[in-house]
Amino acid sequence: MIPKHPSYSNWILWLAFSFICLRHCHGDFSFTIPEEMKRGAVIGNLAKDLGLYAKTLSVRKARIDSEGNRKRLCEINLQTGDLVIAERIDREQLCGSKASCFIKYELVLENPLELHQVTIQVQDINDNSPRFPKDEIHFEIRESADKGARFPLDEAHDSDIGRNAIQGYSLEKNDYFTLSVLSSPDGVKYGELVLDKELDREQQQEVTLLLTAVDGGAPQKSGTATIHVTVLDANDNLPVFSQPLYQVTLPENSPSGAVVVRVTATDADEGANGEVTYDFSRISDEASKLFSIDKLSGEIKVSGSIDFEEESNYELRVQAKDGAGLASNVKVVIDITDVNDNAPVILVKSLNDRIPENTEPGTEVGIINVQDKDTGGKEQVRCAIPGNVPFKLNQSIKNYFSLVTTAALDRETIDNYNITITASDDGSPPLSSSKIIHLSISDVNDNPPIFEEQSYSAYVSENNKPGSSVCSVTARDPDWRQNGTVFYSLLPSEVNGVPLSSYLSINGDTGVIHAVRAFDYEQFRSFKVQVVARDNGSPPLSSNVTVSVFITDENDNSPQILYPTPEGNSFMTEMVPKAALSGSLLSKVIAVDADSGQNAWLSYQIVKSTDPGLFTIGVHSGEIRAQRDISESDSMKQNLVISVRDNGQPSLSTTCAVYLLISDNLAEVPELKDMSYEENNSKLTSYLIIALVSVSTFFLTFIILIIAVRLCHRRKPRLLFDGAVAIPSAYLPPNYADVDGNGTLRSCYNYDAYMTTGSRTSDFKFARSYNDNTLVAGITLKKSPTTAIEENIIAFFDEGESDEVGIYF
Ligand SMILES: *[C@@H]1O[C@H](CO)[C@@H](O)[C@H](O)[C@H]1NC(C)=O
Ligand SMILES: *[C@@H]1O[C@H](CO)[C@@H](O)[C@H](O)[C@H]1NC(C)=O
Ligand SMILES: *[C@@H]1O[C@H](CO)[C@@H](O)[C@H](O)[C@H]1NC(C)=O
Ligand SMILES: *[C@@H]1O[C@H](CO)[C@@H](O)[C@H](O)[C@H]1NC(C)=O
Repeated sequence: MIPKHPSYSNWILWLAFSFICLRHCHGDFSFTIPEEMKRGAVIGNLAKDLGLYAKTLSVRKARIDSEGNRKRLCEINLQTGDLVIAERIDREQLCGSKASCFIKYELVLENPLELHQVTIQVQDINDNSPRFPKDEIHFEIRESADKGARFPLDEAHDSDIGRNAIQGYSLEKNDYFTLSVLSSPDGVKYGELVLDKELDREQQQEVTLLLTAVDGGAPQKSGTATIHVTVLDANDNLPVFSQPLYQVTLPENSPSGAVVVRVTATDADEGANGEVTYDFSRISDEASKLFSIDKLSGEIKVSGSIDFEEESNYELRVQAKDGAGLASNVKVVIDITDVNDNAPVILVKSLNDRIPENTEPGTEVGIINVQDKDTGGKEQVRCAIPGNVPFKLNQSIKNYFSLVTTAALDRETIDNYNITITASDDGSPPLSSSKIIHLSISDVNDNPPIFEEQSYSAYVSENNKPGSSVCSVTARDPDWRQNGTVFYSLLPSEVNGVPLSSYLSINGDTGVIHAVRAFDYEQFRSFKVQVVARDNGSPPLSSNVTVSVFITDENDNSPQILYPTPEGNSFMTEMVPKAALSGSLLSKVIAVDADSGQNAWLSYQIVKSTDPGLFTIGVHSGEIRAQRDISESDSMKQNLVISVRDNGQPSLSTTCAVYLLISDNLAEVPELKDMSYEENNSKLTSYLIIALVSVSTFFLTFIILIIAVRLCHRRKPRLLFDGAVAIPSAYLPPNYADVDGNGTLRSCYNYDAYMTTGSRTSDFKFARSYNDNTLVAGITLKKSPTTAIEENIIAFFDEGESDEVGIYF
């Protein structure tokens, strides 16, 4: 066991030694000297100690012998007898770390030989400082080293011993380390650096400490060493972004390649641990098409087309990763700002594309929606319909507009509209768009068919072919399809008591009016018919027009002889007074023509006579006059054949025979019997009979009418005869008055007529005075058995106030 206090134990040893020397070393010498005494310094006086004179020593050749070859550190001064230091005495050299250090010499005296032991104890002085093996101690400590980690330090060395040896260590005060001083099993003290606070390379890359070792000498000596602690990097740092959040705005439509933002992250680590690369750590598929990141610089660039309307905000996460794989993330928010890049879009939400023309003004016919994808104030959209159309837009809710009519519509004027709707936003510059919507106006049956003319007149010659067209009417209806399809029809009516349809028919489609039968001018000359044009709408509209049909005359009727009555084989004989003078009216041929105008303009001519030159006939009057005075020599019986011819083209003619009897005496008449046979012209006669029958029939009808009227108006029995107008003059024999004024007989003309038939004589006598207003007619007809004709003769007996009417058959 090494004494704790070597200097103290040495001292004890030294005391003990001294006591021994004092007892038996009056031959031996012992000295104690500190080391490192100067050369020549006296250790002791050997002469004195020996009790000799100093001169004796030299005589006796005193000398110091060292054992072995050891260097003599002491010498004896023979003059003085002093033991002096010859060489530097370094205890540490001599004895190292031995606790006690003795130098032993022998003092040899000759004459007599004497041998004395000289022991010099070398005492340690603190002449050595503690020394570290190296001035600089280098440590490399990872910054990740835990607190409390120990790092043994080189021990310092002090050649001195005992108290002068190393007594302790101290460490310069610092933040990171403390010093723990320990003793090794061999008693050497050493220190350990204890990590007191974790290192941070990024904060301090190197820690320099001064380690001091001290000994226990006085004065105390110390030695130092510098500890260089290099803090080794542990990849303990994440890359750190310069901002916790990157929020940027980016105008839409930014070109590809435009830099959006640059993210930067720094990594405090060094080397590969500090090399940062960037990448997106979380990005939507859409955003990945739009943005790219430069792995090295951290620049985020536009790589697609940015459309605010698609997405107004992108959130990306960018990861910065160092070489060792430590990474951190940061959020990048990219707000896209809107640019007025979208024109308003006009959408037709609903549309009645067929608007009935009777739509009231103000009716909503469609809904228009205008959308502008741009936001902000830009979505305020103005919408209008330029041009002069009867439509306008009425904003209802937000960007919904209703299309309303502003005026009455008329398909017949404009049947479709191309409405241009323009919409413009209020961005700057404003964008606008337009849309054409097509509207058709659908038909309503609002127009009746209109005839092209206000009235129609048709002229048809009589005896037309049935089925021939009479005239054609046209009505127009501007409405559409069936609403404008016109059908024609005749308004049912009667013409002369016969349904119109038996006269005319109309082609419903073409409006061509056809005659159903042949017309007879003599039957009626004109009639009116209403044609209705009706469209096919529902309800239908119609209008009507009057068509006046005028039948034109054709010369289809031969003149008809009324007198003398040309019936059968009966004939009449005219009595001519024997004294008739030249120019006197003897008789008159009365003929009518059912035609009119020229066709009824008759001319008379004597085509054959017993005594030509005796009689003459008025060309137009039919009056037979004596051409010269009748003389006794003239034949009593005169026959005339008279031709009556109308003026038509071609003209028709009829002939009749007139028998004249020049006689004053009726008794001579029977002689005329034969004449009838002579002149019997059966054909002529049958014509006459037919004429007579028809005349009679008419007359009978007429009479019946009169009777009927009279029965109603008994008090005015004569009224019927008051005017010629009441009697169809053409059928009033014999008072025939030509309406055309080229009369062959004046109305006041009075005559007597005698009718003779066959062997019997029939008298047929008409009223004498037509103007008289009194008709006293005695009409008798004696039925002739030989004739096939059944005659009805009616006689009127009007005697003053008597209401008796007699009818005789
Ligand atoms: C326009 O719309 C308003 C309601 O939005 C309505 O009151 C008004 O009558 C409409 N005008 C026309 C002409 O339709
Ligand atoms: C509207 O446009 C259509 C087709 O472009 C055309 O046939 C029609 O005539 C136009 N209508 C008007 C009234 O311009
Ligand atoms: C005819 O007019 C009616 C209304 O009067 C209407 O309902 C119909 O659609 C029209 N017909 C055509 C073919 O336009
Ligand atoms: C014919 O038209 C007129 C007006 O034009 C009308 O008063 C009359 O009632 C119509 N007649 C018929 C039978 O439709």
